[in-house]
Amino acid sequence: MKYNTYIEEVPVYVPGVTTKELVRSHGIPEEEIVKLSSNENPLGPSPQAMKAVKGEVQTLNIYPDNTYTDLKNAIAKKIRVKPENVAVGNGSSEIFLFLSLSFLNENRTLVTSKHTFQIYKISGKIVGANVIQVPMRAELKIDLDGILSAITENTSVVYICNPNNPTGSYLTKSEIENFLNHVPEDVIVVFDEAYYEYVTADDYPETVNYIDRGNVVIIRTFSKIYGLAGLRLGYAITSPEIIEKFEHVRFPFSVSKPAAAAGIAALQDTLHVQRSRASNERNKFKMYKKFEELGVKYIPTQGNFTYIETEIPGKRLFEMLLNYGIIVRPLDAYELPMGIRVTIGSDNQTDRFLIALEDVIRKWDTTSLREEG
Ligand SMILES: Cc1ncc(COP(=O)(O)O)c(C=O)c1O
Repeated sequence: MKYNTYIEEVPVYVPGVTTKELVRSHGIPEEEIVKLSSNENPLGPSPQAMKAVKGEVQTLNIYPDNTYTDLKNAIAKKIRVKPENVAVGNGSSEIFLFLSLSFLNENRTLVTSKHTFQIYKISGKIVGANVIQVPMRAELKIDLDGILSAITENTSVVYICNPNNPTGSYLTKSEIENFLNHVPEDVIVVFDEAYYEYVTADDYPETVNYIDRGNVVIIRTFSKIYGLAGLRLGYAITSPEIIEKFEHVRFPFSVSKPAAAAGIAALQDTLHVQRSRASNERNKFKMYKKFEELGVKYIPTQGNFTYIETEIPGKRLFEMLLNYGIIVRPLDAYELPMGIRVTIGSDNQTDRFLIALEDVIRKWDTTSLREEG
């Protein structure tokens, strides 16, 4: 076999445990399982998007419009950019692939942070690129100065996850502006803003204002607040020159017709977005309160998930919570073995999680369990 040996260095993506897996392994009825492991919207898909998907069923024999003009126009209108600033993909993950195929190869370097979304490393390694992961600052925040120092003449792409998955920490407008003023112009700076719609911080940057610099790419998704993770739809906002490069590496029709229609409808479904954001805020503060009561360390989040640390190693805590039908994400793959990431669930899911967490911590505080640890 004459295969590309560098692919052996590509870490295989580790997704969260699925509901079906837990039904099989623990015999817990499916309806009792609370899945807080993949930052999905606990309120479900946007109702308007569901209606749009149904509307596509009769014409599934027809290929999608490969220019995705209506979808791009809808995104452009919403974001207040021109349609020529918009690219769409089969989930934002496909846009990471466009970036790799257009800007990376075995002689180039991708720079990102440690303890950030696993896909950046995978997307660099997939094309044999060198990947540098810069250590975070002590408070588990991305170190922009460290990233600047790691950039060399071989660097073509920098990935910044803001807010960062899995820590929930974010970078401010002044930090980002200072960073952009120091990045070489021929380095593409990718801001992954998958959780943009959940952000509440006043000093979070409006990165759309920077796209005229020519080297800024903003990536957003319909998988989070719009509740369409299963449909696969993401988009990039960037310069027409960068989008032109994507066109050369993009397979036609990668966004399905139902996904394109759902995207347009979801953007108009402001009620669903408002409800989702309100639920997230309500349950986030409920969680913080309980964490404080229990002495659980947490990082205030700008996303729909929280990073927490207890005395219990993350993998062990994850396993103990499975017994209660609660699925969270252990973070060994993110080199954070003491932490777990928990999606902020619905009111009921959050209550279930907090009751289980309290119980687990109480049990851990008995010596026997700790020794077993
Ligand atoms: C930071 C970040 N970017 C992108 C994605 C993936 O998005 P998509 O479903 O659009 O591929 C996720 C999903 O968890 C994420 O956390």
